[in-house]
Amino acid sequence: MLSCILSGVLASVIFASCGAAVTTVNVDGTAAHSIPPLLFGQMFEDINSGDGGIYAELLRNRAFQQMQPNTIEALFGWAPINGTSINVIADPVPLSDALPNSLELTIPSGSSGQVGFGNAGYWGINVNASWTYNASFYYKFPSASDFSGNLTVMLQSSIGAVYANASVPVHGSTTNWMQVVVQLTPASSPVSTTNIFTVTVDGASAIGEKINFAMFSLVPPTFKGRANGLRMDIAQTLYDMKPSFFRLPGGNNLGNSVSTRWQWNATVGNLIDRPGRMGDWGYVNTDGLGLLEYMYLCEDMEMEPIMAVWAGYSLDGTSLPENDLAPYIQQAIDQINFVIGDSSTSKPAALRASLGHPEPFYLQYVEIGNEDFFAPNSYIYRWRDFVGNLTATFPQLKFIATSLPSYPTLDPIPKQYDNHVYQTPGWFAENAFYYDSVKRDGTYYFEGEYAVTSTNASDLYGTFTDGRLIYPNMQGSSGEAAFMTGLERNSDIVFAASYAPLLMNIANYQWSPNLISFDASHVYPSTSFYTQQLFSVNRGTEYLPSTLPQNGTLHWSVTRDAPTNTVIIKIANAGMTTEEMSFELPFVGVQGTGTATVLSGSATASNSPETPNAVTPVTSQIKTGESFSYTAPAYSVSVLRVEVK
Ligand SMILES: *[C@@H]1O[C@H](CO)[C@@H](O)[C@H](O)[C@H]1NC(C)=O
Ligand SMILES: *[C@@H]1O[C@H](CO)[C@@H](O)[C@H](O)[C@H]1NC(C)=O
Ligand SMILES: *[C@@H]1O[C@H](CO)[C@@H](O)[C@H](O)[C@H]1NC(C)=O
Ligand SMILES: *[C@@H]1O[C@H](CO)[C@@H](O)[C@H](O)[C@H]1NC(C)=O
Ligand SMILES: *[C@@H]1O[C@H](CO)[C@@H](O)[C@H](O)[C@H]1NC(C)=O
Ligand SMILES: *[C@@H]1O[C@H](CO)[C@@H](O)[C@H](O)[C@H]1NC(C)=O
Ligand SMILES: *[C@@H]1O[C@H](CO)[C@@H](O)[C@H](O)[C@H]1NC(C)=O
Ligand SMILES: *[C@@H]1O[C@H](CO)[C@@H](O)[C@H](O)[C@H]1NC(C)=O
Ligand SMILES: *[C@@H]1O[C@H](CO)[C@@H](O)[C@H](O)[C@H]1NC(C)=O
Repeated sequence: MLSCILSGVLASVIFASCGAAVTTVNVDGTAAHSIPPLLFGQMFEDINSGDGGIYAELLRNRAFQQMQPNTIEALFGWAPINGTSINVIADPVPLSDALPNSLELTIPSGSSGQVGFGNAGYWGINVNASWTYNASFYYKFPSASDFSGNLTVMLQSSIGAVYANASVPVHGSTTNWMQVVVQLTPASSPVSTTNIFTVTVDGASAIGEKINFAMFSLVPPTFKGRANGLRMDIAQTLYDMKPSFFRLPGGNNLGNSVSTRWQWNATVGNLIDRPGRMGDWGYVNTDGLGLLEYMYLCEDMEMEPIMAVWAGYSLDGTSLPENDLAPYIQQAIDQINFVIGDSSTSKPAALRASLGHPEPFYLQYVEIGNEDFFAPNSYIYRWRDFVGNLTATFPQLKFIATSLPSYPTLDPIPKQYDNHVYQTPGWFAENAFYYDSVKRDGTYYFEGEYAVTSTNASDLYGTFTDGRLIYPNMQGSSGEAAFMTGLERNSDIVFAASYAPLLMNIANYQWSPNLISFDASHVYPSTSFYTQQLFSVNRGTEYLPSTLPQNGTLHWSVTRDAPTNTVIIKIANAGMTTEEMSFELPFVGVQGTGTATVLSGSATASNSPETPNAVTPVTSQIKTGESFSYTAPAYSVSVLRVEVK
């Protein structure tokens, strides 16, 4: 500042060029540590984002799982067509033990035309003429009849326009469950997603008939063509972040109560053997996206799982007493064996092999519970007994504790902790130094959940109508980026980090903001998504120390990608003014031209369904050299890449 005042006195033309101080960053040429391989990844839990989200199934309440028969609620997602009567019944001869309910269709007297029922999907059905949909269901006649005719399976608009149809001949002598599989290829692609999947029959010829249905499915082509797979556009967006790990299956969704906890064995095998469960966010999880699907997701996206086991505590406040833990510890051992066990010696591993994956999946990290800082006292014995037994069985695995590192004292001493924080942009910028002062004592940290949820500290956990953000904005994302430069600087002890939550269905959500939003046909990556992506795809292999940032809104970190000898500089400007910077690189052969990829916008600039591309990264060439300057825009995240030859 002093030089500006002086030069201002000397010549106003110079004054104009130094309205702000220049921040000089001297880079050290000797790497301090390598960048850990898992540093950036993703945290997943089913919060209206598995079913109706990344899981490709389009029909809602497809198998009437966990529904009370003979109620209106049990018909959630379904509606009669042209005057039929439909009801969810406790079937005397159900399709499977796991699916006790079926849908009973009754054709009333006086019926004519096509009559039946429809499903409106998860807030819409994306009908795309480029796709062939796989539709399937089971049916039977509860009492034999001599009916003979066709079921018509269609994709229709909400007012009955037909996009695709198929005919299925059926006969009243079919009194045992029979599966129907048809392919539907729409003739056109309506812009609207208020479409329905229908099953109808010629009313006049079917008067008086009853037909039962179970386990419907409607699936478009999936990510990498995987059966029972992922919605392509959402999965592709996740993959585009080049994440290194996927935390699963939650989060809070591990369990609201002991009886409704997530249980791996209820989520594997034939879909008709999965009972589903009341999830923790107010709706039933189909568990179609089960443990094996999670593992395939990780394989298909070249990332590794950070897998949690339920550890004797549920969100309703229940901590199981130590004497009751044994079966739950065994269930955790079985869960891990399903993933990595030897199929010749372990039953769960043999099950995995029978489902098509004889070789173990890759797994290093297992998280013991979720946010056990809410039950610190019982975590003392729960941690001891779970980790004691799991270490004895799987000495090669690393276990992550979920209580606070400061409290309580655990034995065995955790080598890994999972830290969570939802805060303001200002908090994140100030806490960019959080890990700088953390002891290097052999403990490693997973920043497993973090996000700016409001720019106002009073509204961090508020309702969606006040200062709580619905979508991330640039003020928040640049604050997160400031924090992330600190994670990178401290990645000798921070081994993994993930923004949370990952996905939000804009038609219905229980938490905001989220990294990626979507509706039935589109995906909306947020400013925080692009921030995560910029850090993830520009990691480098080693951390280069540099002049430490001041405690303010301008932060940076420098890495080098050794194989390509590229210096990578990440700059977060979480402040409202432009920042002038100059960089000094201690290398010979620094190229004269580099690239800057910049994400910037006003404080409130945000990608939403209305403005999906308000802020996206822009790459341009910049002048570089052993010494060069850079202007960081207000509320921005910049990645500079400079080659050394
Ligand atoms: C209802 O019946 C009418 C008359 O047969 C038919 O045109 C219409 O397609 C039916 N509705 C649906 C959704 O199938
Ligand atoms: C329709 O499918 C094509 C081919 O997969 C895809 O490129 C396009 O984005 C899809 N449209 C919608 C709205 O999903
Ligand atoms: C279609 O669905 C059936 C029944 O769920 C399944 O067996 C089959 O593999 C699916 N086909 C494709 C191409 O996904
Ligand atoms: C059933 O559909 C098939 C194929 O579309 C058709 O040939 C047949 O006539 C239909 N039967 C009746 C009773 O409508
Ligand atoms: C059903 O699809 C066939 C082509 O597969 C088409 O000729 C027919 O018109 C369609 N039926 C209706 C009711 O749209
Ligand atoms: C899963 O395994 C537990 C025992 O660990 C058992 O109590 C439960 O019934 C099983 N659930 C299913 C759906 O098989
Ligand atoms: C295994 O768990 C049981 C039941 O909680 C406990 O009694 C035992 O001490 C644990 N074993 C180890 C090695 O921690
Ligand atoms: C940064 O500034 C804030 C607010 O003045 C303060 O609370 C925090 O302790 C400071 N951090 C460091 C590392 O100096
Ligand atoms: C922060 O939020 C509180 C509670 O919603 C509100 O009273 C206050 O005016 C807000 N402050 C700012 C600066 O928006």
